[in-house]
Amino acid sequence: MLERGCAERSEQRRTASVETEPRRPSWNIRSEEVAQLAVVGAGYVGLVTAACLAELGHRVTCIEIDAGRLTALEAGRMPIHEPGLAELVSENSRNGRLRFTGNFANISDITSVFIAVPTPSAEDGAADVSFVREAVELLVQHARPGLLVIMKSTVPVGTSDAIAKLPAVLDAGIEVVSNPEFLRQGTALQDFLHPDRVVIGAESAEAMGRVARIYASLEAPIVAVDRRSAELAKYTANALLATRISFMNEISHIAMAVNADIDDVARIVGMDRRIGPAFLRSGLGWGGSCFPKDVLALTSAAARYGCETPILRAAYEINQLQREYAAQLLIDALHGIDDPIVAVLGAAFKPNTDDVRGSPALTIAKRLLGNGVTVRIHDPFALANASDIVAEIDCRPDAYSALEGADALLLATEWEEYERLDWTLVRETMRGKTVVDGRNVLNGVHLTELGFHYKSFGRPAHNGNGNGTHHHTNGSAPHIAGTSME
Ligand code: UDX
Repeated sequence: MLERGCAERSEQRRTASVETEPRRPSWNIRSEEVAQLAVVGAGYVGLVTAACLAELGHRVTCIEIDAGRLTALEAGRMPIHEPGLAELVSENSRNGRLRFTGNFANISDITSVFIAVPTPSAEDGAADVSFVREAVELLVQHARPGLLVIMKSTVPVGTSDAIAKLPAVLDAGIEVVSNPEFLRQGTALQDFLHPDRVVIGAESAEAMGRVARIYASLEAPIVAVDRRSAELAKYTANALLATRISFMNEISHIAMAVNADIDDVARIVGMDRRIGPAFLRSGLGWGGSCFPKDVLALTSAAARYGCETPILRAAYEINQLQREYAAQLLIDALHGIDDPIVAVLGAAFKPNTDDVRGSPALTIAKRLLGNGVTVRIHDPFALANASDIVAEIDCRPDAYSALEGADALLLATEWEEYERLDWTLVRETMRGKTVVDGRNVLNGVHLTELGFHYKSFGRPAHNGNGNGTHHHTNGSAPHIAGTSME
């Protein structure tokens, strides 16, 4: 899905993966029992799953029907930017544990197949499972009896049950298991190889045991449940995390109104062990391929069962409002300026990925463009993907070039390099003084001292919005890093 056309863009991506991917850590988690596995789909989840299963010691065939993507993978080129993935794929391809194919006929010796194909949002927000169904149809034609189909794709509750009951699936002696993924982009290898839990939804103890043995070398609790509970748990996890963020974003407006500091509020509530510190950061809100899609899909599925979901609807709406609020802050700051220019720093929906799906940066850019604003954008990895979606934005190769003569700056993605900018130089480079810190990561005190008009999401006005309290990007508790921006 992230595959893009032009050579220049592929070049950007190739360079990116060479320069930034860290040396491959030793995961040291080999399985004693080697399984013959296949993974359908070499997208984000499929590729990570295939590479990590091979890393566990299994023999894995990854089936990708997109010929362009398949050729690229066979040549060692990654279709996505994910730290460490290129190395893991390359090493496991070299040692013969991982291979790629476009042909389902190549699975005759396979005992278990993971389905990891996209389930995009349909018009009404429901998850579209047609790719899953197509994959199952192809598998049925080539499966050997007793094949286990393991559902990794995020599917509406009841999908695995429905597939298990298809006559062709029953005739082929195929059993279906739900095994949802909880991978975050940017830390997907870590999340796969050191998970908080492995969830297996199965109807028979035999199938449960077979899947559990695939993961046996991981030090993680196995949660054995029925298929429907596994499927609902996946949606619930993402919807709950998204709701936490929206809740804090709602509180951030109250914080601004009463001149309190949302960073301190988040730190205090996060220290309550019943709450915990992760996913309390306010700002532009959530994007990506999962949270928006899954919140919508759960809302839509609930409606079909006649269940009310006011919390999910509010979480989604607040998330949209954050973008609107940021755009309006910028439009207000540009009032009276002829031919205004805004520099947007960051296009990816979060750092350490080139994924722009659901990215607040692009929603806001479109809104600004619609208001006659020139929008320049920089991102270390996601520029090509951004320009595919919003052709009118002016992509710049580095942050300073985006900032040259700009009237306002929007920090949309908290890439580390933006926190290390030379703000004195930025001040000289920009025409205007407005800085909208969409991720509450900049040192507002320092920026205010330099003469910027610093605006954030719930930091108090009395100390220049932002007292140097700085969030970890991994969602752990904020810590004081007073000089982080100097
Ligand atoms: C998410 C889930 O975390 C993962 O388990 C699931 O399988 C896929 O969806 P991902 O989309 O990679 O992973 O991103 P995540 O790190 O969860 O962040 C989602 C969004 O929330 C990002 O846009 C991020 O910027 C935003 N966010 C996160 C906040 O606004 N505040 C926070 O405190 C944390």
